[in-house]
Amino acid sequence: MKGLILSGGTGSRLRPLTYTGAKQLIPICNKPILYYAVESLVESGVTDIGVIVGSNSSQEIMRSLGDGSRFGAKVSYIHQDKPLGLAHAVKISEEFMSGEPFVMFLGDNLLRDGVAAFVEAFRASSPDALVLLSEVPEPQHFGVVELVDGRVVRLVEKPKVPPSSLALVGAYLFQPCIFRAVKEIEPSTRGELEITDAIQWLVDHGYQVEPHLVTGWWKDTGRPSDVLDANRLMIETIESSMQGTVDATSEVIGRVQIGVGSQILRSTLRGPLVIGDHVTIEDSYVGPYTSISDGVTIRKTEIENSIILADSHVESAYRLDACLVGKRVAIVPSQARPKAIHLVLGDDSRCEF
Ligand code: G1P
Repeated sequence: MKGLILSGGTGSRLRPLTYTGAKQLIPICNKPILYYAVESLVESGVTDIGVIVGSNSSQEIMRSLGDGSRFGAKVSYIHQDKPLGLAHAVKISEEFMSGEPFVMFLGDNLLRDGVAAFVEAFRASSPDALVLLSEVPEPQHFGVVELVDGRVVRLVEKPKVPPSSLALVGAYLFQPCIFRAVKEIEPSTRGELEITDAIQWLVDHGYQVEPHLVTGWWKDTGRPSDVLDANRLMIETIESSMQGTVDATSEVIGRVQIGVGSQILRSTLRGPLVIGDHVTIEDSYVGPYTSISDGVTIRKTEIENSIILADSHVESAYRLDACLVGKRVAIVPSQARPKAIHLVLGDDSRCEF
């Protein structure tokens, strides 16, 4: 059995971060989202993995994952010139799959319990396809599945009037018959070959599509609020670890990870939170559900429920909450007169005061 991870796509809802980086490499608990997908496949015994990369971020993804050996996997790259849909990604991976069944995982999806149990179920009963479902409050943002007596009868992509509250989770298991389905379907109104339509084709042609409900949480990290949610959910699972130094005047409460060479001075840390390597935190409060990447400096700041990416410098008179801050960003007090807020923001940035 092989693996297919989709890591193309433009990440338009995560701009401006995705102007300069791949959405799948945004870290959750200081680890790129994509790594969770690779680890989840390896944990399921799936180590021969094809990664679909788009034209805008392929270099960055390839540099980051490499040949996959450090994950215990063999990673090959499949180039998708244009984001023409998930079923298109399946289509171009036919040669790589060489007739084997496979598990497909969307590189921006996070599943608390991974996919091992579903891979096992698929191996045991060998259906033509196995789909993962999750009850969601706003199904109109997802592919939605209608079940009758526990059987899949209808799948619709982002319906205005959802037939159920069961969303298609971004992990699917397929036998090679899916290649026939993706060749038979037509592009949707958004111009993409939808995997939802390909699975509907299987249902309509008498193939067996097995539905499974995921029990742990699942998160599609499409929007900034989803990324912060995913960080919050994932951070709940961390254990404390201390590789840096905390001075005698600082206080560390709850589960906190502090990386190599990091220093905490005259500050309060209230976990759960994650601090990377070579981070300096001075005269600050860092609260729950915060992930601070390597090389960040935080001074005279109160912050919680946020993600700060590498090498940024934060020194804010405001209390920061639910912030998603990119790499090498400076949020610093101004000495200049007149006293005003000075902003240099990239396209599609958002500041709320
Ligand atoms: C895709 C699928 C959708 C699925 C979702 C899961 O949507 O088309 O059926 O529910 O992933 O994350 P997209 O995020 O590409 O809009």
